[in-house]
Amino acid sequence: MKGIVFTEFLDLVEDKFGIEMVDTIINSSNLKSEGVYTSVGTYEFSEMLQLLTHLSENTNISIDDLLQVYAEHFFSVIKRSYSGVLEMYSDPIEMLASIENHIHVEVRKIYPDAELPTFQVLEKTPKRLVLIYKSSRSMHAFGLGLMNKTFEHFNESATIEFEKLNDVATEVKFIINKN
Ligand code: HEM
Repeated sequence: MKGIVFTEFLDLVEDKFGIEMVDTIINSSNLKSEGVYTSVGTYEFSEMLQLLTHLSENTNISIDDLLQVYAEHFFSVIKRSYSGVLEMYSDPIEMLASIENHIHVEVRKIYPDAELPTFQVLEKTPKRLVLIYKSSRSMHAFGLGLMNKTFEHFNESATIEFEKLNDVATEVKFIINKN
């Protein structure tokens, strides 16, 4: 997992819960990196999972809720750092339908070792999009946060439902209907 995902996460934890919480979750985890991240580095996903698990235990907020809020923050990072990619779109459905064939393709050019999910388009009309998310990292809640912010970015809104296709949520169906 890319360092930018860790640095932005710890910044948000500090912002919302204070620097003591950052120390607590780092100290209660067993981290090869010792909790020192640079935005261009690459670190094991298990480190993020430990940080999230300990944050969840200390705040009583579920990992999925934490991931969704984190993704909403991460969208502002995307806006700041990858505005060129966003500017190629004028419609949220078009943008979300292009994650697999364009957006994450561009991400991989910048970070060849990025660990990205796949998003298969099952159905697409101007008002509706059905996607299948697949990733061994089970971060569909991160996807949900980014999807909500994508609609907000274009001053639109949508009803987004999802259905876990297996227990571990490595495959999740998203049903997105523009309001
Ligand atoms: C992961 C970039 C748009 C869904 C990531 C990562 C980066 C990234 C850097 C982390 C990869 C790693 O740590 O190895 C971007 C950029 C975008 C964009 C620059 C737009 C310009 C989106 C959108 C979605 C999305 C719109 C909406 C669903 C995800 C998910 C992950 C991810 C769910 C977590 C990894 C996983 O589930 O396996 N993206 N992304 N991304 N992205 Fe994107």
